[in-house]
Amino acid sequence: MSSPGNFSFAGGGVADAYEDLLVPVLFEPWAHHLLAVQDDWKNKRVLDLATGTGIVARLLAEQVGPAGSVVGADINGEMLSVARQRSAASGHEIEFIESPVHPLNLSDGEFDVVVCQQGFQFFPDRTAAAGEMFRCLKGGGSVVISTWRPVTECGFFGAVCETLESLGEAEISNTMRVPFDFIAGEELARPFEASGFSNVSVENVIKPLEIAGGVEQAVSLAYATPIAPKLRDLPQAAQIQFRDGLTECLRQLTEDGTTMGKMASNLLTARKPV
Ligand SMILES: C[S@@+](CC[C@H](N)C(=O)[O-])C[C@H]1O[C@@H](n2cnc3c(N)ncnc32)[C@H](O)[C@@H]1O
Repeated sequence: MSSPGNFSFAGGGVADAYEDLLVPVLFEPWAHHLLAVQDDWKNKRVLDLATGTGIVARLLAEQVGPAGSVVGADINGEMLSVARQRSAASGHEIEFIESPVHPLNLSDGEFDVVVCQQGFQFFPDRTAAAGEMFRCLKGGGSVVISTWRPVTECGFFGAVCETLESLGEAEISNTMRVPFDFIAGEELARPFEASGFSNVSVENVIKPLEIAGGVEQAVSLAYATPIAPKLRDLPQAAQIQFRDGLTECLRQLTEDGTTMGKMASNLLTARKPV
């Protein structure tokens, strides 16, 4: 299993590239799906854990309205700095705090809902993370968590790993696999059950990955992920081989020029008893 420590969102312009390239095609569409699990966000106080560049927090701020509030927490100051800039520019009032998920620098019983889109797989101690979410929630509050399924079920990222492996770049491929190192449904549920949550349920959600700019834009997405600095460090010839190989893989993956296969995610919901 790859170590989450190998997958860093710090340095190398990763935070800006993440927001400009990955958020519009991947994290924003999935954020809409995540927020659709709850029908009424009005007036709620919500924590967006592992907020990254803040896309989920911004969508939440629109939903909770002026009597609600949103806090975004993340361990990475560079991701938070982009989150603060983009949220201020779009007029969203969100409090961002720099904190690891455990210990989480927030008070007991503060929130109605805790959401975490594609962050849980990076947390070093998943039971401690679920315990912190439980502590910060009010009685009757809920959690909504998503984690990617295996890379073989996530076409574009599977193609990136396959191309790297065919070039003998197993170490970079293993790094790209970190967010997809599979947490099976029951394994995802266990830390939440152990922390006292009830109604723990995990759904397998599948959606196409639509990239309007087609294969060319899709190839550039590899350079918006935390493997980008390692790709840029490859010798020139290997970089060309990577681009050519990935282009070919993606041409085979797409049938209409814009759909790059499917992405699959676990979606967990649970409740803190009153
Ligand atoms: C794939 S990004 C997801 C960001 C955001 N939720 C979104 O949907 O765009 C994962 C985030 O998890 C954060 N993260 C990783 N380990 C963490 C930890 N131990 N505590 C808090 N945040 C962490 C990273 O800094 C990164 O911003």
